[in-house]
Amino acid sequence: MRLASRACSRVLPTFLTFPASHARPTVGKCERGNVQQRGLRLARAAPRAGLRLARAGPRERLNVQQTPVQRYYRFHAAIYDWTRWAVLHRRKLAIQRLELRPDSHVLEIGCGTGLNFGAILKQLDPQAGRLTGVDFSRDMLGRARGLIERRGWLNVDLVSADATALALGERFDAVLFAYSLSMIPDWERALARAWDHLLPGGRLVILDFGRFERWGPAGWLARAWLRANHVATGRAYPQRLAQVLGPVSYEPWLGGYAFVATARNLRRAN
Ligand SMILES: C[S@@+](CC[C@H](N)C(=O)[O-])C[C@H]1O[C@@H](n2cnc3c(N)ncnc32)[C@H](O)[C@@H]1O
Repeated sequence: MRLASRACSRVLPTFLTFPASHARPTVGKCERGNVQQRGLRLARAAPRAGLRLARAGPRERLNVQQTPVQRYYRFHAAIYDWTRWAVLHRRKLAIQRLELRPDSHVLEIGCGTGLNFGAILKQLDPQAGRLTGVDFSRDMLGRARGLIERRGWLNVDLVSADATALALGERFDAVLFAYSLSMIPDWERALARAWDHLLPGGRLVILDFGRFERWGPAGWLARAWLRANHVATGRAYPQRLAQVLGPVSYEPWLGGYAFVATARNLRRAN
């Protein structure tokens, strides 16, 4: 009985406090101004009482929990944090490549459960620095919010949105995709949206799986396994990134297992 009530108290808050499908949606203003945004915005993840939700409209509501990736994470969100440490590497290098300052404003696209948040926030001043995490899986965002609340981070926003239609109405000093771009079919559009959210001089960093080019037959198996998990590995990332983003530093790792690509926005401020 006590076990059951403990289990309920752990599980229920996730559902009760992340009411994407049950909350009466409000349209329009979030904490920091108007947001023309698909989906749901959670402004200031802690304290909980400060949460505000905003939706763009009924059409967008249809997008919630519909893609295969969103459905995939309905289950995987629960086991993500204790399984992915074995396969998702090079986070430290990717965050280093963001070259953060204490007052940086950082955007992580496809932030998932927030596994990069701690390392990013370590480099930010709690008052001056700010982190915004975007994801379109409410199950993953629910986990991220739990983490934020447990740690008491006050300078983190969560936004529920599709990366290919991102329009936050602000720009950031640094943008990170960590193992998320390879799960987005229209990754070029997601990249273009991300680029538009980058301030002049800002850095965009992509950490993702490579093509396993030096893995022989094991590479084929790894790619097939990733494909079964909605991850595309055959894309010509370096070439396309250079076309889309201009000069890109590309750092492959472990025979093509993963890579970190970094680009700087060389546009001038208008
Ligand atoms: C492998 S997880 C990576 C999570 C986190 N960045 C990390 O490093 O652990 C990929 C994440 O990208 C999100 N994602 C995939 N496609 C997306 C899209 N079109 N828009 C927003 N998020 C997306 C998924 O919901 C998932 O949370």
